[in-house]
Amino acid sequence: MTAISTEAAAPGKVILFGEHAVVYGRPAIAIPVTQVRATAMVTEGEQPGILLQAPDLGRDYRLEEADEGDPFARAVQVFISAAGLPHLPDLTVSVRSTIPIASGLGSGAAMAAAVIRALALHFGDADLAQDEQVSNLTYQVEKLLHGTPSGIDNTVVAYERPVYFMRQQPHNLIETLAVGRPLRLLIADTGQPSPTKIAVGDVRRQWQADPSRFERLFDSCGRVAESAREAIETGQVEQLGRLMTENQHHLRDMTVSSPALETLIAAAEESGALGAKLSGGGRGGNMIALVTEAQEPAVQAALLAAGARAVIGTVLAAS
Ligand code: PMV
Repeated sequence: MTAISTEAAAPGKVILFGEHAVVYGRPAIAIPVTQVRATAMVTEGEQPGILLQAPDLGRDYRLEEADEGDPFARAVQVFISAAGLPHLPDLTVSVRSTIPIASGLGSGAAMAAAVIRALALHFGDADLAQDEQVSNLTYQVEKLLHGTPSGIDNTVVAYERPVYFMRQQPHNLIETLAVGRPLRLLIADTGQPSPTKIAVGDVRRQWQADPSRFERLFDSCGRVAESAREAIETGQVEQLGRLMTENQHHLRDMTVSSPALETLIAAAEESGALGAKLSGGGRGGNMIALVTEAQEPAVQAALLAAGARAVIGTVLAAS
């Protein structure tokens, strides 16, 4: 008999504008990166209990053996408690991912979203399979692991749409962005792991030490994100490049850039990119460069020559 299986996937993501300031209630913009994905598969009844498999990491273990901070196990547990299932059948949950880990591309959020959606679909729970619920449950996993995430990562990977996001009570503002003209981005990896939690903690300490300076910096990032939204919607690609460069100045002032990021940003700008900035927590991880089709090969070559470990190209289609 063929085992019953259910599959779901979630994309990677990049933050285009507003990282860090978004934790303090300012708007930010993020887009899905669909070239890379996490895929979860739920298969029933192959062995007793719940088996977790992460073949890319060479891991194969039982749910009850997982460490406290294991994000994969957390995603399964968060689903089980939200679904309120009295008894789970024997299951194998397996995850594969092409999203580079710990580099600001949202690998953890995408893994959790894929697992939660696959389980919800498998158990025919139409409510928990909705984007909003997948996002909320993924946020719970992120919170357990990262402390004070803004919620933008889980939102963009669960909705798989470009989003304008603002953290607020009682519900976050989540708006889908229209895209006036296609946006072509190069995403370059410094090869240095990006410790988001540490960068977020450092920004918090600096904000506590000098709140008025940091509030001004966050306000400036918020204004950049608002202008960027307009530039994306009206297709003003050159203006968008200038706004990326401006956002990078503010991120530098928050001390979340790094020599490796600055080297790649300079290489992108010198080879003709319309704008460039770090993306995500900073201190490593990825930077992004906005390019035209004609500029792309030269900027890609310059990024690799400047030491980028990998460069991913993505196009956000006009909508
Ligand atoms: O490092 P990433 O891509 O997960 O992005 C973190 C973005 C921050 O704004 C720094 C933190 C957050 O929770 O929004």
